[in-house]
This record gives sequence, structure tokens and C-alpha cells, in this order.
Amino acid sequence: MSPAWSRIMGISTLLLGLGMLAGPALAVVAKQLFEFNRSVWVENIAVRQNGNLLLTTLDQGRLYTLDPSSPNPEASLVVQLPGVTGLSGISELGFTSDIFAVAGGLINETTFSITPGSTSVYVIAHSLPPVTGVILRTIPVPAAVVINGMTTLPNPLYRRVVLGADSGAGSIYRVDTSSGSVESVFQDAQLGPGSGGTGPAAQGVNGIKIFNGYLYYTNSHMGTFGRIRMSDDGRKFGKVEVLADVPVSGEATGLDDFALDEQTGVAYVALHPGSVLRIDTTDAKVTTLVGGGTDSVLKEPTSVVMTEDGGSMYVTTGGGQVVEVCL
Ligand SMILES: *[C@@H]1O[C@H](CO)[C@@H](O)[C@H](O)[C@H]1NC(C)=O
Ligand SMILES: *[C@@H]1O[C@H](CO)[C@@H](O)[C@H](O)[C@H]1NC(C)=O
Repeated sequence: MSPAWSRIMGISTLLLGLGMLAGPALAVVAKQLFEFNRSVWVENIAVRQNGNLLLTTLDQGRLYTLDPSSPNPEASLVVQLPGVTGLSGISELGFTSDIFAVAGGLINETTFSITPGSTSVYVIAHSLPPVTGVILRTIPVPAAVVINGMTTLPNPLYRRVVLGADSGAGSIYRVDTSSGSVESVFQDAQLGPGSGGTGPAAQGVNGIKIFNGYLYYTNSHMGTFGRIRMSDDGRKFGKVEVLADVPVSGEATGLDDFALDEQTGVAYVALHPGSVLRIDTTDAKVTTLVGGGTDSVLKEPTSVVMTEDGGSMYVTTGGGQVVEVCL
């Protein structure tokens, strides 16, 4: 048995064991760290190397930070990005710490409709205390409907290049934050949006992460989790492989962004209106980690990020929450 297999079997045994007593959602502890005291849709999250969190929101283009180790974590403003109202994907650039690419556009917080041509990718430095949130560069991506999830290429040659998921066009953009060049590099019907409306459940390709030469993705309205082989430079893509198909009708209303634990190959995927799924990329097994049934801790989970040690994760929600989940 490979180490990976014994780990998977160990975890399933644990879930099964606890499941017989109290239901699988209680196999982990979910604890709310913070909730905005007004209506703020938190869309995405990143962890800085010092452990502090960065939160993108649909709150007038505001990027917030929060220290999860504080006894009473409070979100504080890092920067309000000009010319946009909604921030979505965020990814640390790989060439130095504390410089992040953040996507934004004119996104209506109520209807989620997006003004055509309003999308940009910002490069933000977070590393010069007490000055935080310095905007180093603004790269317009006017051809995109939206840039939703975003991820940095892992290859050392391309540490300043991000890929962004266009949920409205079903395509992948490649943005070189160094040269400012923008290309649409892949489009496929499997990444396409739904026909009904502009809300979170109608989005196409949403979260994206690169792992072992594949681009892993969620498609919100199809409820699919899949992968595409890709070249190191993020320009060439193979065929879409759908790994898991999650029913998104009735109680479940759409997959959102996710974290991928590179030690175990397990993805932790936000599912509206109230769960986090565990999807194993090695065998495509899907289980509910948090939420489902009568568990109502999470109000519209939007994204998940792992801590450096892989022992816990933070989940953001459209209900303005940051929730810690310990594995
Ligand atoms: C909400 O939180 C902010 C920031 O912590 C604070 O300044 C404000 O007074 C709070 N408002 C209410 C109504 O509690
Ligand atoms: C968002 O859309 C709603 C409904 O159409 C509208 O009432 C509101 O003014 C819009 N908000 C902005 C900031 O445009």
C-alpha cells in the first residue's frame, strides 16, 4: 500500500468511526474567528507568510487583513482599490514574499452583475510596515467578463505570472505581472457559465489551482471538479478531465473556490449555501467535511485556504465570516 493510500484509508476510517456516533460533519472543529458587523461579501482569501490573512471583498474594492492568532480577530483595511467595487481572486507572486496579485472589477454586491471591460489585476505589496497595501501596478484585462479565482505559476521561471479564471466566458487568462502582458490561453465548454443570471451559482470556472502539472478547477453551476494538463509556462493545455460531479440542485447551489493540500493531494472546496467538501484528487472520492444537514455555521462559503502546516484551514463566506476549520 502506498503511503498516500494508507493515509486515505486512515482518514476514511476516522470519518466512518465518528460518523456512526455523530455524523461526519463533527469529525472536524469549525470555529468562527470573525464576522463583519454589516453585510460584506468576502470573496477570497490568502495567507501571508507571517500567518495573517488577506480578505478580498465586494465591499467597495476593499482588501482587508486579519490576524487569526489574536484573541479577538478584527478585520482592518489594507487598501481600497480605485476604479473597482468587487475584489475576487488573490494569489501571492512567487519571486518574493508579501507581494500579491488581486483581481477586481465593477461588480454589483447585490446582483453580482459586472460592468463589461472593468476588470483589472492589481499587484499589491504588503511588506513595508507601517505602510501597507501599496499598489505597484494595475493591469487592465478589459476583454475578460470577470477574473474570479487566480493562481500563480509554480515554475521558478514564471514566478510573476498568474492564471485567472473567467467565470463568465469559460476561459483562462494568463497575466504576466512583470511585463503586463495579458493573453487568453484556454477556453472550453466544460468551463462555461450557466444561462440563469449572474449570481454565484451561475458562474462557470471559478477556483483554479496548479498541482503536479495539472490545472485543477471548479465549475460552479455544473458542480464539476476537474483538471487539465498544462505546460510549465501556462500557455498550452490538454483535454479537460472531469474528476467529480457534485449535484448542484436542491440543497446545494454551486461550487466555489478551493484549497489544494499539496502534501496529500486533497482539495477542500466551498459549496454554497453552507458546506466544505473534501475531494481527493487521487481517487476522486467526495465527502462533506463541514456543513450539510442542519449544520449552519457557514453562510455561503466562498473560498478556502490551508495553513502552511496543513493542519487547518480558513473559510471565507458571503455572510462576512472567516471560519477556522481544524483537521
Ligand atoms: C463595526 O465595526 C467597525 C470596525 O471594527 C467599527 O468601527 C464600528 O463601530 C462597528 N459598528 C457597529 C454598529 O458596531
Ligand atoms: C446594484 O444593483 C441593484 C439592483 O439592480 C441596484 O439597486 C443598485 O443600485 C446597484 N448598485 C450599484 C452600486 O450600482
